[in-house]
Amino acid sequence: MTIAQSAPAPLDVDAIRQEFPILHQDVRGKPLVYLDNAATTQKPLAVIDRLTEYYTTINANVHRGVHTLSQKATDAFESAREAVRSYLNAADDREVIFVRGTSEAINLVAHGYGRSRLEPGDEIIISAMEHHSNIVPWQMVCEETGAKLRVIPMTDSGELLLEEYARLLTPRTRLVSVVYVSNSLGTVNPVREITAMAHQAGALVMLDGAQAVQHLPVDVQELGCDFFAFSGHKLYGPTGIGVLWGRQEALEEMAPYQGGGEMIRTVTFEKTTYNDLPHRFEAGTPDIAGVVALEAALEWVSAVGLDRIAAHEADLVEYATTSLSFNRRVQLIGEAKERSSVVSFVMEAAHPHDIGTILDSEGIAVRTGHHCTQPVMDRLGIAATARASFAVYNTRDEVDALVSGVNKVAEVLG
Ligand code: ALA
Repeated sequence: MTIAQSAPAPLDVDAIRQEFPILHQDVRGKPLVYLDNAATTQKPLAVIDRLTEYYTTINANVHRGVHTLSQKATDAFESAREAVRSYLNAADDREVIFVRGTSEAINLVAHGYGRSRLEPGDEIIISAMEHHSNIVPWQMVCEETGAKLRVIPMTDSGELLLEEYARLLTPRTRLVSVVYVSNSLGTVNPVREITAMAHQAGALVMLDGAQAVQHLPVDVQELGCDFFAFSGHKLYGPTGIGVLWGRQEALEEMAPYQGGGEMIRTVTFEKTTYNDLPHRFEAGTPDIAGVVALEAALEWVSAVGLDRIAAHEADLVEYATTSLSFNRRVQLIGEAKERSSVVSFVMEAAHPHDIGTILDSEGIAVRTGHHCTQPVMDRLGIAATARASFAVYNTRDEVDALVSGVNKVAEVLG
């Protein structure tokens, strides 16, 4: 196959932008340039319409009623579960658990697996570039169980040191939980290798896919991991809904995390027995509308094509990286060879908070701060960064606006 044949067809970004009403507004008198997509993406009409349609025509509780609306709501809810299964190429839709987001998914595994399986002296491995949501739940569980937390170190450019990881793996390692794509550095980690090494040591593997599923095709069977988490709202879907995928045998080893309706089979005051997968981990009324609209988001992304999205975003990252490097005051943070849609930077004599404020005055939205990865900042000896993060609807013109804004920061702050 020639390169020309294998390259994805370019996107019609103007047409895509028409599907995102929120993008067509002025902020502080300037056209909005939304570059905070790692925090949350905007939503296409297909997702907004599905939410409205659900509430205007179907709304009822799921798995609880014989009446028609309840059956329709249940069908729509379970259809979304099948859509997630297909998106991740999971083996079975019972392996798809709906949660609030990646944080809840990691908490579910940390508490569900940790409480029932960990013993004093057992070890959990995470990495130096984890989001707080893949650090704190493990710390809590270690405190409860006497297990120990180990951390894979990283290089200055933001790449994990796999030889150090190999040294950390011991017969005491029970679980390795790492981020697929770093939210503050953009590094795409070698998760297949990390997973294979963990399995060789007899440990389970959890992947935080919050910054991966919207940029890269994910096939959980091919990745070989045991758990995979993502959030709907970073994938053009609604806030408040996310997914924990777990291999059936791994999920069945876990104790339920939250008790309540739906997760039980029988309840008496003496004893409760639990429901089967996936319901055992879905206590209470779920975010049904969010789940239904998540299916619309998955359909939308699949129709646009992840290969085309990835190629477009790679072009924006390269263009932004090159254009920003012309400003001598800018220092890029995170220069791993494999990177996704994030460009983090600091500027001489400019606090990232001031960078963000000046950019906002130009209508440009970026995130500034530690990005919920304080240990990354400590490791690199900085307090914070400014971060531009890209999505399918961003354009080179918007990168130009960012670069002009950054040049203005340099002028204003002297
Ligand atoms: N974790 C999200 C971010 O990186 C909120 O911005």
